[in-house]
Formats: sequence, structure tokens, C-alpha cells
Amino acid sequence: MSAPNKGYDPVQVTALHPAEVARAQTEALQAIAATADLADLKEVRLAHDGDRSPLALANREIGALPPQAKAEAGKRVVEARGAIRAALAAREADLTAQRDARVLVEEAVDVSLPYDRSPAGARHPLTTISERICDVFVALGYAVADGPEVEAEWFNFDALNFLPDHPARTTQDTFWVESAESGVVLRTHTSPVQARTMLTQEPPIYVICPGRTYRTDELDATHTPVFNQVEGLVVDEGITMAHLKGTLDHFATAMFGTGIVTRLRPHYFPFTEPSAEVDLRCFVCRGDSVDNPDRPCRTCGSQGWIEWGGCGMVHPHVLIACGIDPERYTGFAFGMGIERTLMFSGGVQDMRDMIEGDVRFTRAFGMEV
Ligand code: DAH
Repeated sequence: MSAPNKGYDPVQVTALHPAEVARAQTEALQAIAATADLADLKEVRLAHDGDRSPLALANREIGALPPQAKAEAGKRVVEARGAIRAALAAREADLTAQRDARVLVEEAVDVSLPYDRSPAGARHPLTTISERICDVFVALGYAVADGPEVEAEWFNFDALNFLPDHPARTTQDTFWVESAESGVVLRTHTSPVQARTMLTQEPPIYVICPGRTYRTDELDATHTPVFNQVEGLVVDEGITMAHLKGTLDHFATAMFGTGIVTRLRPHYFPFTEPSAEVDLRCFVCRGDSVDNPDRPCRTCGSQGWIEWGGCGMVHPHVLIACGIDPERYTGFAFGMGIERTLMFSGGVQDMRDMIEGDVRFTRAFGMEV
């Protein structure tokens, strides 16, 4: 800034020349009018009203003027700056209003649009497949039976002809409620429902019973300590193994498609005689992989069959224990794992997926009801 100088002519200070001040004002007003948004305006404010703006610099020169010129130049600069600030304020109000109006339109939320506020889960495929199994048998005239999951040892074992020293009774397989002397177990299979049904109903008996069962297995890809089985029981006059085989074939075809039938392999269960394991025709290769090294099948290990469950003719001891005359009636029974059935029919590789409760797993099965 220049030092005070009495002989100083203000018109010689270019910055304070009326034309110069007017030009700075005009330029500022034009720039303000040309701003497109608030960001532009911020820059224009800095350039025309900031510390380094032409009029701020001119203002600094006022101190160097002789007293008589100070007032006039000061008034001129103050008026020009006032006009610029008023224009800035007006433009700011304008642009703010424009921005607000635009945001209101662009960011508008249509509250009337349909929106699923609590995302729906899905029915568990184990529930759906259990119901499908029941449907297959209800269509054949069967009733759906059930029984308790906390079961008397007598129903779970004794009534089913398990001898007192049968290894399945040990704590290796069975969850005992309190102690092994309590006489109460978490049912290890759905077969006790056979005994409960026979004790409460007169033949003819045609029942299907899906339900939860428990065994002391470690959780891994193919085992879970809590799993589901489905039990079938028929007691009537003249029931033979041919009825059992026909029923199982119908069941397999209904679940897995035309051509998927069953095969029975001799086996032992205490509550049936004769007993058999039920194999399912491999639903992937349909047996084509057998003796066909060019087309191996990973699903059945090129055996053509997959183990599905157990079955047999109800043992006369069981009929007697449940008050049914074995001279008059015969019956068949079968039981299979529902998780295993779902693994086959739903292509599930790992049983843990079925129990982890991830909705992404259950949703993949759709909303079959
Ligand atoms: N209860 C048997 C199990 O848990 C399965 C079974 C086999 C059920 C033969 C039956 C049957 O009804 O007849 O392994």
C-alpha cells in the first residue's frame, strides 16, 4: 500500500478510477448472472468478492489518498461491493431454490410403490418333501400318523423286538433322557410309531409317518444327529412282500420319475422278518453305467443302484406285542431318511446346508406349497 501523499491525484490510482470500479462491478455482476450452480457461484464469489478481488485490492489503495478524495473513492468502492454482495446473495438464493427443486424431483421416493418390507423366507425343502411323500401315500388311501420325539424305550426298542443287549441301545447311538436307566430316549427312528399305531388301531392299518429322529452322530456332510425319517406301515389280511415291493416302486417313481424303481437286498432288522434293504435305481445313469467303463457314474459308483432305506414284513413278535393276531394278519413296513431322499431328489450335496437355516438355500427350492 502507498504512503499518504497530499499531492496525490486519485484519478491516477487506476484501480479507484470511477470507470475502473464500474467495470469491476459490471464484470462481477455478469459473472454472477452467468453462474449455473452453487459451485460456480462459490468461485465467482472468491474472484469478485474475495481478498484478492479487484475491488478488495482497490479498497486497500484508499488509505493512500488525500483526505478529500478518500470519502468519494471509499463511497464508490463500498457501493460497488455492496451491489456485488447483494447480487451474490440474490443469486445464491436463486440457485439454492433451483437445487432444492431439482433434488425434490430427482430424489423423490414414490411411497405408493409396492414394497416388501419384511422379506419373506421360504418353506424348508424338508417340510415340502415330507408333505409330498405324505401326498403320495394319502392318494393310496393311507392315513398320516405321528408319535412323540421323546419316546419310551419300550416303544423305541422292546416293542420292536430289539433284545435287551442289542448294540443300538447303547449310548453309542441313542440319546438317553437323563440316564440309560431312565427308560426314556429321543427316538432313534420313526418305527416306534408302528407300535403306537397298532396298539391304538384295529387292522386294516395303512399309515405313513414322517418325523424327526435322533442319533449320537457327529455332524458332517452325510450325517446329522437330528434327522428325519419316513415310516410306512400296512397291516391287513393277506399282505405279502409283493405288496411291499409294488408300494416301494410306486413311491420311488412318484418321487424320482418314471423308470426309477426299487430293488430289495436281504438284510436284518429286529422288527421285520424277512427284512431287506431298499435300493433305488440310480436316477442319474439309470443303470447304464454298469459294465460300461466309457460312461462311469459318480452318483452310484457305476453300481446302478443307490441305498435308500430298510423294509420287511412285520415280525410276528411285534404284531403280538401290539395285540394283533399274526395268524390272521400280516403286514409290511419300510423306513427311509428324508434328508437322504432330499439329497437325491433336490441335488443337495451337503446335509449341513439343510440345517444351517440360510434362507438362500431354502429359497432355491421355490415356494412349493
Ligand atoms: N427303523 C430303521 C432304521 O432306522 C429303518 C427301517 C427298516 C424301518 C425296516 C422299517 C423297516 O419300517 O421295516 O434304520
